[in-house]
Amino acid sequence: MNIQWYPGHMTKAKRAMKEDIKLIDLIIELVDARVPLSSRNPDIDDLGAGKARMVLLNKSDLADERYNNAWTEYFEAQGFHVVKVNSKSGSGLKQINGVVQEACKEKIERDRRRGILNRPVRAMVVGIPNVGKSTFINSFAGKACAKTGNKPGVTKGNQWIRLNKSLELLDTPGILWPRFEDQQVGIRLALIGSINDQILNKDELAIELIRFLKRDYPNVLKERFGIETEDEYQILKEVAKARACLQKGGEYDLIKASNILIDDYRNGKLGRMTLEFPIKTAE
Ligand code: G4P
Repeated sequence: MNIQWYPGHMTKAKRAMKEDIKLIDLIIELVDARVPLSSRNPDIDDLGAGKARMVLLNKSDLADERYNNAWTEYFEAQGFHVVKVNSKSGSGLKQINGVVQEACKEKIERDRRRGILNRPVRAMVVGIPNVGKSTFINSFAGKACAKTGNKPGVTKGNQWIRLNKSLELLDTPGILWPRFEDQQVGIRLALIGSINDQILNKDELAIELIRFLKRDYPNVLKERFGIETEDEYQILKEVAKARACLQKGGEYDLIKASNILIDDYRNGKLGRMTLEFPIKTAE
C-alpha cells in the first residue's frame, strides 16, 4: 500500500517549537504505546538536545502489556525516563511528578548550587497528532486548558499551567509530524488512526491489519469471527459475513467490513495489541 501524505505547516510549527524549547527544562514526549517508534518524530532528539527527557507510553491500555514493559526497558536503556499511562482514565499519571523530579535532578541540583531554591521545573508536552497530548494535559492538569491554540502555526503567548510548586507545564503542546519514508511506518500510523482516513484505501489497510493479526495475534480472528482460513481477502469476506455487511445485490460490502475491522482494532475491541516490537524482543 502506498500512502501519500504531505503535512502542511511543518516548518513553521518546528520553528515555533524551537523557540518554546528554549524556555523549558524538560520535554515530556508522548508516544502511542502500540507503535512507540513509528509515533515518534526523530527531529525531537535534535530539538531537545540538552534538555531532560521523558517518554510517556500513552494509550498503554490499548497496547499489549508484555510489550509495554519491553518498550519501557528499551527507552530507559536510551536514557529516557519512562512512564506507562492511560491519559483517558488517568492511570499512571500519579507517578509522573516523582519521575519529573528524578529526570530533572541535575537542574534542581544546579539551581541549588546557585542559591535558587524551589524554582519549578518547566516542561513541555510534545508528540505527533492524535497521540493524546490534549487528553494528557487535561487529565494531568485536571482542567480543560489544553485546547487553546492547539493548532500548528497559531500565534500565541506562552501560558504556563502551574501544576504544583515544583512543576509548570507550557499550556500548548508541541506538535510534530510523524516521518514515514518507510511505508510500514505509514501503515502502522494509519492503523492507529493517526493519518486522515480520507486519504486511505480502507480495504488495503484492512488487509494489512489481517496480515499483522495472522502473524502476531492469530487467535483473534478465530475467536472473534470464527475464521480459520489463511487467505487475507477470504478473511475479509468472512468478516463481512460475520458482521452482515452486504451490498444491495447481496454482494459482500468489503469496505464496510474493512471499516468495522479497523475500528475494532483502534478501539481495542480486538484486544490489546502492539504493532511493533523493540528489536531485542522481536523474533
Ligand atoms: P492530540 O492532542 O495529541 O492530537 O490527541 P487527543 O488528546 O485529541 O487524543 C486523541 C484521541 O485519543 C482521543 O480520542 C482521546 O480520547 C484518545 N486518547 C488519548 N489518550 C488516550 C489513552 O491513554 N487511552 C485511550 N484509549 N485513548 C486515549 P477521540 O476518539 O478523538 O476522542 P474521544 O471520543 O475520546 O473524546
